[in-house]
Amino acid sequence: MRVDVFFGPPSAVPAEAPHRVVVVIDVLRASTTIAVALANGARTVIPLESSDAVVTRAKAFERADVRMAGERKMRPIPGFDLGNSPREFTRDAVEGKTVLMTTSNGTHAIAASQGARDVIVGSYVNFSAVSTVLRAALRGNTDIAIVCAGREHQFALEDAGCAGRYVYHVTKRMANVDTNDAAQACVLLDRKYADNVLRLFDASEHGRALRAAGFGDDLIACAEIDSYPIIPVYQDRQITKLGPDRER
Ligand code: MLT
Repeated sequence: MRVDVFFGPPSAVPAEAPHRVVVVIDVLRASTTIAVALANGARTVIPLESSDAVVTRAKAFERADVRMAGERKMRPIPGFDLGNSPREFTRDAVEGKTVLMTTSNGTHAIAASQGARDVIVGSYVNFSAVSTVLRAALRGNTDIAIVCAGREHQFALEDAGCAGRYVYHVTKRMANVDTNDAAQACVLLDRKYADNVLRLFDASEHGRALRAAGFGDDLIACAEIDSYPIIPVYQDRQITKLGPDRER
């Protein structure tokens, strides 16, 4: 079996993805924010490529049923209900709502993974829940592709560190699992920082940019391992929570 890591842009998604479980990671902050939104009762999160697409899509809903969300250059998009800070996606803000979301990198990477066998949105806040699904996939002889969204089409330290944590824990005590070089490099990164995720964020360009822009508290929220133990699944161009009302 294989657990491989791929770095963005979306074109990096492997051609064999239809046969794999794909995990998309954009720890700072889209994949974290999506987990928080669904854990706090959002009906669904629909990733869209542009703010125009969000505005157009919103017209198909009753205004009260929808939340327009996203960022450009880390800042909320003018006229939208929410930005991309996980701390904004409270139960009050999103319960029962459809969240239409566009972000600079994360939502593109998720949308580009459409077509894989299963696409799961991973982060630190839902680490153990997602890992359980990945271990079950490996036991069922399904390979795994971990796609790091990155930043502006570049390698992002925080996504690689999170990917490494998945690779390390999911392959532990599993026989016959092979990994690509990127996965092995990610494991080295994860072992360097281990549970000190904030130190990893502070070493990363994006983490430092978020802190400089006044989003330091978001780093704390994004670093809280297992604080939102849910499994967000992307299928039919929307992300919903795996659970009793949505079986795989
Ligand atoms: C993205 O999708 O690039 C990010 O989530 C950016 C951000 O931190 O808002």
